Amino acid sequence: MPTAVQLSPAFPADSRVNERGRLEVGGCDTLELAREFGTPAFVVAEQDLRDRAREFRAAARGAGRPDAAIVFASKAFPCTAVIAVLAAEGLWCDVASAGELHIALAAGVAPERIVVHGNAKSRRELERALAERVALIVVDNEDELAVLAELAPGAEQEVLVRVTPDVSGRTHEKISTGQADSKFGMEPERARAALAQAAAIDGLRPVGIHAHIGSQLLELAPFEREVAAFAQFADLAVWDLGGGLGVRYTADQPPPPTIEAYVRALIGGAARAGFPPAGRLLIEPGRAVTANSCVTLYTVETVKQNVSRWVAVDGGMSDNMRPMLYGARYEAHVADRLGGATRCVLAGKHCESGDVIVGDAMLDAPRRGDVVVTPATGAYGYSLANNYNGVPRAPVVFCSGGDARLVVRREHLDELTARDVG
Ligand code: LLP
Repeated sequence: MPTAVQLSPAFPADSRVNERGRLEVGGCDTLELAREFGTPAFVVAEQDLRDRAREFRAAARGAGRPDAAIVFASKAFPCTAVIAVLAAEGLWCDVASAGELHIALAAGVAPERIVVHGNAKSRRELERALAERVALIVVDNEDELAVLAELAPGAEQEVLVRVTPDVSGRTHEKISTGQADSKFGMEPERARAALAQAAAIDGLRPVGIHAHIGSQLLELAPFEREVAAFAQFADLAVWDLGGGLGVRYTADQPPPPTIEAYVRALIGGAARAGFPPAGRLLIEPGRAVTANSCVTLYTVETVKQNVSRWVAVDGGMSDNMRPMLYGARYEAHVADRLGGATRCVLAGKHCESGDVIVGDAMLDAPRRGDVVVTPATGAYGYSLANNYNGVPRAPVVFCSGGDARLVVRREHLDELTARDVG
């Protein structure tokens, strides 16, 4: 019986196998979605996205800090429709460039709910942030303060200083940021000096500190160490604790802490570290908000057997760089025959041997024309997408209660040459 298939926890919460044996996401049949919108396509279960945002806010309330701002790290899924949904659910938005600021504003996020990051902000980016009167600019280094000293006079800009607390968690080295030798932030003593320096700059109001120790962390201990290291900054009114909570990519990986446990650890840890009850706390999740609310649909173009069974689809490293960049593991399933026993390499269509989406997929006798789905692609897939081999970028489709709506269309071939001027 197809309905007896136990769906992987990596899928959006409301996914199911319908009476026709096909995967449904947000109440929509994925084969019909593939037919209507084409593949590859990012398919977002809108209710799941909302529910995760609500879970963060409920967790803050449950931990006695209903006022803690949940700030979506927009780099995880910088799509206006996604950010608009999250803003409607009461989330703030973290941006790390003028481009992300532009997207957040286009999504209708109020500037007083925007936090501006970046280790190499340009003068124009700082000008724009000041002009928009964003909530907070997170200062990374002294050179940035020097530029702000020229731009800020007359403004009333609250700033945080980014600290590297010398805490790191177990994750891929490319997404570990809290260690002392990091390209982000300053060690605590220098951060303290930078706060004093900022206080002397006309137009700046240094109000607190920020840290982000890394991403896809599956243990709470590093976060607890991070907050404990903030104790030396208990005199400051604002602590931004960054993001980093890991998610479930495959059924067989160690499960991440729940959103509730994560938020409780941060808020409880802050209280123990002496954070003032009247202070403002910010938490900046990216991946944990969006990753599991989205799946990617592909169509199988070819199947061949040599040493391995190679199943090649119509996307790959142009829509999901994570396997290549971080050795990230994903699951794959044939959308109308979930679960399977044929060991396959799910390969992309790009001209590189490394363009493999899932090295050890277990599929049910895949063949040309099948729709294959990979869950948990809602974080850093869309944002790292590219046009390698001249492949147009994939659309984003929102599904809710059985209705599907296109929120980002597929890129046209003409757009690949649209910037050519000579
Ligand atoms: N806040 C700051 C300042 C950050 O730099 C990041 C992520 C976050 C919050 C959100 O972290 P999250 O909750 O998503 O772990 N491209 C990589 C991830 C890079 C993360 C960069 N910073 C990947 O695909 O795994």
